[in-house]
Amino acid sequence: MLQKKKGEDKDMGKIAIYPGSFDPMTYGHIDIVERALEIFDKVIIAIADNAEKRPLFSTQERLQIIKNIFKDTPHIIVDSFKGLLVDYVAKTNAKVIIRGLRATSDFEYEFHMASMNRSLNPHLDTLFMMTNKDYFFVSSRTIKEVAKLGGGVEGLVPDLVARRLKEKFKLPVSKKKQMSWDDM
Ligand code: PNS
Repeated sequence: MLQKKKGEDKDMGKIAIYPGSFDPMTYGHIDIVERALEIFDKVIIAIADNAEKRPLFSTQERLQIIKNIFKDTPHIIVDSFKGLLVDYVAKTNAKVIIRGLRATSDFEYEFHMASMNRSLNPHLDTLFMMTNKDYFFVSSRTIKEVAKLGGGVEGLVPDLVARRLKEKFKLPVSKKKQMSWDDM
């Protein structure tokens, strides 16, 4: 029966968590966030703080970059979490995890992760959104690889991310666009 339980947070609106490494954030991720905002009242972008993955950008750097990207977008919260995603979600009022799917090759990993999360918390659902066709081939891993080898990633990641990648890989950054971490 479609009945709300007494005391259920009607006023909170629908909140979704969009977790990931975002190392770095691409236009594929941004497209998912923008579409999620059409469905949910609030989206929490949750950056996994997992040093074992040896990210190129520290958690602090990723937080700064993503906060900057969405600085003019209301209803977005950018946060980081350590440990189990379900434990982080439990501290919010979200009931839905959003994940983007690019290709069938993503499916197996995502299916296992969603199933494990649901086994840990049966009240949680994972909503898969198909990546925009323009970004099917874009992943943080390939973006880093191309950028490291001096290839252009403009149009696939925000300008800020393209600049940060150049700085990380010690490639020349155009002076005009240069921005320090303190500007953010
Ligand atoms: O962008 P990614 O690296 O594909 O994101 C994966 C992420 C961070 C969502 C996933 O690894 C995760 O939820 N990590 C937190 C630890 C956890 O809860 N693991 C159990 C899920 S199987």
